[in-house]
Amino acid sequence: MDSSSAQERPKLVVLISGSGSNLQAIIDQVGNGTIDADISLVLSNNPDVMGLQRASAAGINTEVINHREYDSRDSFDRELIRRIDAEQPQLVILAGFMRIFTPAFTNHYAGRMLNIHPSLLPEFKGVNTHARAIEAGANQHGASVHFVTSELDGGPLVIQAIVDVNEDDTAETLAGKVLQQEHTIYPIVVKWFCEGRLSLDGNQVRLDKQSLPPQGIAHRAES
Ligand code: GRF
Repeated sequence: MDSSSAQERPKLVVLISGSGSNLQAIIDQVGNGTIDADISLVLSNNPDVMGLQRASAAGINTEVINHREYDSRDSFDRELIRRIDAEQPQLVILAGFMRIFTPAFTNHYAGRMLNIHPSLLPEFKGVNTHARAIEAGANQHGASVHFVTSELDGGPLVIQAIVDVNEDDTAETLAGKVLQQEHTIYPIVVKWFCEGRLSLDGNQVRLDKQSLPPQGIAHRAES
C-alpha cells in the first residue's frame, strides 16, 4: 500500500443539531470503506443530542459550540470557523444543523460545504416541509442535497430523491419515507466529493466534469 495514501484521505467535519441519522448513514459508509475519508470532528450547537452519542460510539471526536453562549450570529460563526478550520477538512457536511449562517461563513466554505434539505427544492425551503407538502396537495415530495451558499436552502443542487405522496400519507409517514431516502442520497454525494468527482464551478455543479441540470440528478425511490 502506498505509504502516503493514509495522509491523503479527505477529512470531513459534520455539523449536527439533533438525532444525527444522516450522520449515522455517513459514519456507516466510512466504516465499511464505501466512503474513503475520515470524519475528524462532529460539531453540535446543542448539547446532549443523540447525534453526539452516535459519533462517540463510532470513536469520532465531538464538540459542542452552543449558540446560546454567543451574543451574535457573527461571533458564533467565527468560533465555528475557528474550530472547523483547525481540522483542515476538505468538506463540511451539514446534517440537520438548524442554524442560519452569516454570508461570511457560507462564503468561507464556498464549494466545500453540503447540506441536505427535506423537500424538492426550490419547493418548501425552511421548516415543516412535510406538513406543508401535504397541505399543498403535492403528488411528489423528497429531499435535496445541495452546495451551501448565502441563500438559505438555495444553493446549487446535486441530487434529489423523489418519493410519491399517497392519499393516506401524513406529515409523519412522509417524513419517514423521505428520511430513508436521505440516508441513501447523502452518502452517495459525500462519496462523489471525496473521490474528486463532484465540484462547484461558480454556480454550476459538475459531476465527472459534466454539468448537472439545475435540479441536479433525480433519484427515484423504489415503491
Ligand atoms: C433531516 O430531515 C434533514 O434533511 C434536515 O434535518 C433532518 C436531520 O435529521 N436538514 P437527522 O438529524 O439526520 O436524523
